Amino acid sequence: MNDKALVAQHAAQKIEDGMIVGLGTGSTANCFIEALAKRHQEGLNIKTIASSMVSAIKARELGLPQIPIEQLSGLDVYVDGADEVTQDMILLKGRGYDLIREKLLAGASREFWVLIDPGKRVGRIGERYPIPVEVIPFAWRLVRESLTAVGGKAELRQTPNQDGLVVTSHGSLVLDTVFPEAFDSRKLDAVLNGIPGVVEHGIFSRLASAVFCAQDGQVEEQWA
Ligand code: A5P
Repeated sequence: MNDKALVAQHAAQKIEDGMIVGLGTGSTANCFIEALAKRHQEGLNIKTIASSMVSAIKARELGLPQIPIEQLSGLDVYVDGADEVTQDMILLKGRGYDLIREKLLAGASREFWVLIDPGKRVGRIGERYPIPVEVIPFAWRLVRESLTAVGGKAELRQTPNQDGLVVTSHGSLVLDTVFPEAFDSRKLDAVLNGIPGVVEHGIFSRLASAVFCAQDGQVEEQWA
């Protein structure tokens, strides 16, 4: 079993009967959906809520019961991967395109478990990837000006073969933004939250309850 499958299975084993479970997006979240579906087939009684269309489709194919987000007033646990994780459990997410639901579910959940392997550990947020900033399409240029004014260098995210712009599930554009190393990610979180036209961004600060990290056949748990 590879590390993603291992950490996913570890998390799925912790899910209890009657829980409402948030399903993340990405390759690690996919492994979790599969592990959870197996437990459901074995009799675990749960409801799920997906953070993206792609995860909703996968959950439906595997027979997991889902509730619409409009009917949700809270959930027990949200389980997702991350692109970067610092020692103090700040995350970077959003290499996929579904930031808004991911952050909404992480914030509405009693607990948020983050599933990683050691390759996701970083010294600072932004070390490997630019910070995705999701913007209302008509506001992208003004938001880019605001990001420049606070020291960022932002570029609209393009499709992989560079022949179009990436549009999120909610119809937003993404400004991938690089900030100088000295920037504190908690402060940056607050700054980005305050820019008009920004729908959401990829820094997840004070949201994770636990990071489960798989390495060499073992899972290490770090709790907030
Ligand atoms: C989705 O938008 C992202 O936040 C993913 O959770 C993140 O990119 C991790 O994906 P992997 O599990 O595929 O590495």
